[in-house]
Amino acid sequence: MHLLALATTIFLLICNGCASPISDSSLDKRQTTSKYCSAESNLCYLQISTTASNPVFRIAIPDGTSAPFEILLQIIAPVSNGWAGFAWGGGMIANPLTVAWPNGNKVTVSSRWSSGRTLPGTYSGATYKTLSSSKNSTHWMAEVVCTGCSKWSGGQLSTTGINTFAWALSRTAVQQPASASSSFSIHNNLGQFSTDLSSAKVSQSVFQQHIKSAATA
Ligand code: HEM
Ligand SMILES: *[C@@H]1O[C@H](CO)[C@@H](O)[C@H](O)[C@H]1NC(C)=O
Repeated sequence: MHLLALATTIFLLICNGCASPISDSSLDKRQTTSKYCSAESNLCYLQISTTASNPVFRIAIPDGTSAPFEILLQIIAPVSNGWAGFAWGGGMIANPLTVAWPNGNKVTVSSRWSSGRTLPGTYSGATYKTLSSSKNSTHWMAEVVCTGCSKWSGGQLSTTGINTFAWALSRTAVQQPASASSSFSIHNNLGQFSTDLSSAKVSQSVFQQHIKSAATA
């Protein structure tokens, strides 16, 4: 009997995914990107989706601009998600993180930044305006405008080339749902993907009109 092999196997089984930084190859890259057009909001978004138990993200940006520009972001998450996050530079560290969670029948959106793989701190370099948010028996959702998500210290989004984004979710509810500076626990699922933003571009007038009409709705 190879005791060492047995012990190693048991350790690997127990410790599957513990501690060490994830390598790129183990990140889920099976995202589907598509163009999603909403009759309701009268514009089209770049949509990123995986499976029904993960959040869907939708992004729209004003055409004809380069960073910094404002970004429309929708997060639609199943109620099993305690929080869902989007990383604008494609990893956990040193890029704006948009983190959202349900708060009663609304959603709290929190601006975060992390310099390590620990609870990200709040980040004043990005600000959010919530256009709508809601929660029902199956999903919670928020649509926000982010100022500060397209350019940050050390990076920016390209409107012509490929960008790498990442997302994360936890199945544990956050500690203080009403507070944007709430603590929360580590993700249960992560993904990373690369895409250009061509499907996210909408005319500047449509972009601004959508923000205006949502704000007065
Ligand atoms: C309490 C909060 C958090 C803790 C303790 C934490 C911790 C970690 C750890 C230990 C890893 C290494 C791989 C692993 O063990 O799974 C990791 C990776 C990652 N985390 Fe977090 N995380 C937190 C929140 C977040 C948030 C809010 C986001 C995004 C909005 C995020 C995005 C990522 C991504 C994309 C990776 C993989 C790529 C990379 O390592 O940079 N994390 N995190
Ligand atoms: C619940 O909310 C989600 C996200 O907004 C929506 O897609 C879905 O149609 C809603 N379901 C019901 C039953 O209203």
